[in-house]
Amino acid sequence: MAHASLGDFIKDAAGVGEAEFVEGADLVSDVGCLTELFAERSGPMLVFDGFAGHDRGFRVSANALKTPRRFALAMGFPVDSHPVDLCRMWKDRRKKLGAVPPRVVTDGPVFERLRRGDDVDLTRFPAPLWHSGDGGRYIGTGDMVIVRDPDEGWVNIGVYRGMLQGPKRLSLWINPMKHGRIVIEKYWARGRNAPVAVVLGCDPLTWMTAGMSPPWGTSEYEVAGAYRGEPVEVVNLPESGLPVPAHAEIVVEGDIPPLSVESAFEGPFGEWPGYYTHQGQETVVRINAIHHRASPILLGMPPVRPLGSGGPVGVPTITPQLWEHLERGGITDIAGVWSFCSQLLIVISLKQRYAGHANQALLTAAGFRHGDMKALYVAVDDDIDPSNLQEVVWAITTRANPATSVEIIRHAWTAGLDPRVSPAQRAAGDMTAGRMLIDACRPFAWRDQFPASNVFPPEARRAVEAKWEGLLARLKGRG
Ligand SMILES: Cc1cc2nc3c(=O)[nH]c(=O)nc-3n(C[C@H](O)[C@H](O)[C@H](O)COP(=O)(O)O)c2cc1C
Repeated sequence: MAHASLGDFIKDAAGVGEAEFVEGADLVSDVGCLTELFAERSGPMLVFDGFAGHDRGFRVSANALKTPRRFALAMGFPVDSHPVDLCRMWKDRRKKLGAVPPRVVTDGPVFERLRRGDDVDLTRFPAPLWHSGDGGRYIGTGDMVIVRDPDEGWVNIGVYRGMLQGPKRLSLWINPMKHGRIVIEKYWARGRNAPVAVVLGCDPLTWMTAGMSPPWGTSEYEVAGAYRGEPVEVVNLPESGLPVPAHAEIVVEGDIPPLSVESAFEGPFGEWPGYYTHQGQETVVRINAIHHRASPILLGMPPVRPLGSGGPVGVPTITPQLWEHLERGGITDIAGVWSFCSQLLIVISLKQRYAGHANQALLTAAGFRHGDMKALYVAVDDDIDPSNLQEVVWAITTRANPATSVEIIRHAWTAGLDPRVSPAQRAAGDMTAGRMLIDACRPFAWRDQFPASNVFPPEARRAVEAKWEGLLARLKGRG
């Protein structure tokens, strides 16, 4: 059964050794740095309590979904599955996706406390300085920003970074192409403020869907329901009527005036590619009410330098979608898809069937709409585990000939957060960068004469692993 709340998820994570509880950390010097150090070591998720100047029980969590095991736990998959199998299971679940609308209930733990009027003070909740160079306290990293389309009535959810701007103000950086921004601008065009709810903590699986973008008109709640295998329970907020998870931790209710009326300086923020980039005047939520549990837990999903797979979710969210895209594009015999560095390096493992098969897969992947800021695409044979960077590098260095195995795409579209775009390019509005496609498969024409590898065959390795399980268990964590 899906986790109803963040607290339920933490309990289960602790049960499989995937949660660490930390007392008395400092919100400025310790929390962000510990989050980074634990992420780099694939450590357990962190749950902080006992902050100076804050009520006991007002907690902060971090890295909830950061490893494949915790992703599996959230999705209800076997926790010790191989990462590529998790990706395949996720792809298969996506195939079966039907819309599962949320179930409206009349009450829930999020209504345990209500703060309105003079009692509205968002600074009461602990908000870390996640990176030493951040321009402020980002209380919204694992948030869900909820708005309703004024014409069509459907509800959009997105994850947009939210910086504390005082007790009654929160800024959001919402890129112009996001559905949430388009909906908000519809209110502005009518001379109205946009009603908004910002959820600052809920079960991680529901949160995860808020960072995906189903087609216009489809609510992320329906996707979350499909992934969960049951509806998300929501309560309608008293003022705006916006639906929020009944089991949420903290919900801010307010409205967003047009940028021309009110804005706030936002950033810099240590973003997901590992750099500080965007800062500027952005949208503001004027807070009318705060609903929260008696002992709320902030869901912290701060970006950290994307080493390993990178990204907030242990199975990179692009991989099942890209796998589907390749299959739709007619690419057969895909053994696995993975990505590193928060989706900047894409790896496709496949069984080559014909000359040019690997290159076709690479070109198809490079055209995927989701690929706004990508650098490298690599194709490897199906004896290479695409989720194992060491194997991928071995394939690149021994099977790819730089003189013949590399294609360069120039001027591909990229994102504002791309640190490779020069100031001159930015000023000219030229948001493009190159991409490299590396065919690291054995050359198709003479694949049968390619020297054989000295690695034990998979069946032999599996048999020895089963026989010597105890001995090998001692190597756990040695990479
Ligand atoms: C952890 C995380 C943080 C994000 N931060 C931002 C952000 O600050 N601004 C933004 O425009 N998009 C951000 N995104 C991307 C959007 O949430 C994502 O594109 C989402 O699909 C947008 O939904 P929408 O198009 O339905 O509005 C973030 C995504 C994640 C997972």
